[in-house]
Amino acid sequence: MPPSTLTQNIKIQSNGDNRREVSRSMSMSTSPHETFHQRTVSSTEGTSPILTRTKTGAIPKQLKPFREQDIKILLLENVNQTGREILTGQGYQVEFMKSSLPEDQLIEKIKDVHVIGIRSKTKLTARVLSAAKNLIVIGCFCIGTNQVDLKYAAEHGICVFNSPFSNSRSVAELIIGEIIVLARQLGDRNSELHRGTWNKVSAKCWEIRGKTLGIIGYGHIGSQLSVLAESMGMDVIYYDVVNLMGMGNARQVSSLEQLLSTADFVTCHVPELPETMNLISAKELETMKQGSYLINASRGSVIDIPALIDAMRSGKVAGAALDVYPAEPAGNGDYFNNELNTWAEDLRSLKNLVLTPHIGGSTEEAQSAIGVEVAESLVRYVNEGVTVGAVNMPEVTLRSLTMDEPNHARVIFIHQNVPGVLRRVNAVLGDHNVDKQMTDSRGDVAYLMADISNVTETEIAELYRELESLKEKVVIRILY
Ligand SMILES: NC(=O)c1ccc[n+]([C@@H]2O[C@H](COP(=O)([O-])OP(=O)(O)OC[C@H]3O[C@@H](n4cnc5c(N)ncnc54)[C@H](O)[C@@H]3O)[C@@H](O)[C@H]2O)c1
Repeated sequence: MPPSTLTQNIKIQSNGDNRREVSRSMSMSTSPHETFHQRTVSSTEGTSPILTRTKTGAIPKQLKPFREQDIKILLLENVNQTGREILTGQGYQVEFMKSSLPEDQLIEKIKDVHVIGIRSKTKLTARVLSAAKNLIVIGCFCIGTNQVDLKYAAEHGICVFNSPFSNSRSVAELIIGEIIVLARQLGDRNSELHRGTWNKVSAKCWEIRGKTLGIIGYGHIGSQLSVLAESMGMDVIYYDVVNLMGMGNARQVSSLEQLLSTADFVTCHVPELPETMNLISAKELETMKQGSYLINASRGSVIDIPALIDAMRSGKVAGAALDVYPAEPAGNGDYFNNELNTWAEDLRSLKNLVLTPHIGGSTEEAQSAIGVEVAESLVRYVNEGVTVGAVNMPEVTLRSLTMDEPNHARVIFIHQNVPGVLRRVNAVLGDHNVDKQMTDSRGDVAYLMADISNVTETEIAELYRELESLKEKVVIRILY
């Protein structure tokens, strides 16, 4: 963010009706006016999922860097209604659009918004972000954040949030479905009958009760799946690079080989990392039990698909379900062919193979949960400066200021991570009573949050000016 937007209009005026006004710039802040507080308090006691009483029972004070109607939010790509409601419920100005925007229109629109919410189609490149003079935070209402230039955003003090785990349950349920579908060859029976062929068979069709499920990667999805699979009567073993407490009776095994040689069904739930590239290749497939099943709904690079094709042709693997692929098309259509992945047509020809187009997390419930999680992160960041869950900034939080602390202010100072800055910042803050302070860094950017007590408006304006003169400053916000 260029200095000009931070230095404009920082005077604070007291109106006759006691309502303080500040500039529309995000650089300086004012507490919400009386009626806003009253509304907030009642929503705290009602349904607001964001504001809860502190441990001592005090009502958190909702800090505002603006009059509520001054904060402008642009939501693109049909962001879920749950998220829209949370943001409009805060009193922000929310503009909602169903689609993404071409770059030139996006540049025009992003110029004066403080918050933008997107999904995976909107590309927030350095070029686009350089036009966003007032932007303080980006909400990716989806899992991935590749569509955002995270480094540029961090260097310009723009925080980015996403929702990586809201769809874990949806993926786990898909896997349960696939285990039964593979055990009973339902995919083949279904397509045969669609073509008019009655083929009633029981050979090599199994119950899943008493079979062993081997989960590779026991994180958010793997552990959910573990619970569901046990309740269906399966024995669960898992392999993870971290030692983890098993859910229910699930047991961790000490090596991938042990898992592969024991499990009837093997399912992968690991992140995409250099170490997980082709984690299951010819050697691992050979280690698996004769006639076992393989499932992958993690990342396309985790399974060596040509090796899987060989293992299925030889009968070593009796069935497989794939939801993710090394190359995936950008949109819907007839793209799953050899141009996309050289082996696509060989893969499509296999029996007892369930192929789905990366839908593991695609449910209404997951979209709704994503809307809530990202919108709440945005509100916490805008109102309180909390960065917990941010993907490009250090994670910093302090307990909320309360209504019993009327003359407190929260200083947020995003700065370059170079030696000596903290000494200079603390020299500025040192004339005041710093109640609490937290700082952390991530790469080249550091984030400091400090709550100071018993400050007057004049002192806050002075503090702002002194902090702004520090050459390492990226963004300053003072909330009270
Ligand atoms: N198909 C979909 O639509 C969909 C939806 C959501 C997530 N995913 C993918 O599912 C995967 C798992 O997601 P999650 O939310 O459970 O992740 P997570 O980070 O919660 O869990 C991953 C687990 O894998 C473990 N791990 C890492 N490297 C490993 C290795 N080499 N061997 C064994 N274990 C290893 C980690 O320790 C961790 O416990 C991710 O790749 C994610 O991108 C797919």
